[in-house]
Amino acid sequence: MIDAIVILSGASRGLGAALALAACRPGTLLVTLSRGEHPLLAQHARRHGCEHRHYAVDLADPVQTETVARGLFADLPDGAGRYRLINNAGTVEPIAQAAVLDAAAVAHALHVNVAAAMLLTAAFLGAAPAAADRRVLNISSGAGQQPMAGWSVYCATKAALDMYTRTVRLEQQAGGLRIAALSPGVIDTPMQARIRATLPDAFPAVEDFKTLHRSGQLAAPADVAARILDYLERDDFGQNELDDIRQY
Ligand SMILES: NC(=O)c1ccc[n+]([C@@H]2O[C@H](COP(=O)([O-])OP(=O)(O)OC[C@H]3O[C@@H](n4cnc5c(N)ncnc54)[C@H](OP(=O)(O)O)[C@@H]3O)[C@@H](O)[C@H]2O)c1
Repeated sequence: MIDAIVILSGASRGLGAALALAACRPGTLLVTLSRGEHPLLAQHARRHGCEHRHYAVDLADPVQTETVARGLFADLPDGAGRYRLINNAGTVEPIAQAAVLDAAAVAHALHVNVAAAMLLTAAFLGAAPAAADRRVLNISSGAGQQPMAGWSVYCATKAALDMYTRTVRLEQQAGGLRIAALSPGVIDTPMQARIRATLPDAFPAVEDFKTLHRSGQLAAPADVAARILDYLERDDFGQNELDDIRQY
């Protein structure tokens, strides 16, 4: 009997992989979406009595994303009391000064970081029964509120995700959906390795990120994931529309 359905984007590595592993619990149906598949997740889920379904999808392609989202929601079993959508997939690229941005890189980031969350949320709203406990968590970033040279696209997409979250929350006030955007802090993931590999011309603050790494100031993905899953189940989830896991 499935009592909770958790839909999670970007579970192949980094924070999403840690969230997926931690979400494997008896009675849970975990649905993951990303291009690649976490090599150990299926086995881990079986061992923990969790049903797991993976959908291979490029979230940079909005038509593919919408089709997969509709299909996955149409195939969900009836009767779960709790529905969770975690829009975690994201890209920090392109890391570049604004003058050299090109159409393909800009469109890719807008689709992965913003449009995919919108399309998955639309399908979620259409499919998860209103009587159930429905919660959407958008993984945002402090970069949505704090500009960083070289990250104009990333900062703008996270600011867009924040405003999208606030607007859906306004629309859904009477509908019972709870939604929040959450900054997860600075975490030791492949995205951080990608940031550290950037040249200072493109990203002047790169040395600060190398220092954070060298001095052991990056959070462990498993620790952050456990705190995020606890946060998602809080009675007051959704009261702070823009939140930061470091406050908890
Ligand atoms: N790490 C940090 O310090 C930090 C700080 C603030 C916010 N965040 C946010 O936290 C979230 C997770 O970050 P992370 O550090 O874990 O990133 P990561 O290590 O780069 O992992 C990104 C995940 O997103 C998926 N993804 C990326 N592009 C995709 C695409 N086109 N289609 C489908 N899936 C795609 C990847 O899967 P595939 O490549 O297999 O498709 C992967 O599972 C992001 O939203 C990020 O902005 C991270």
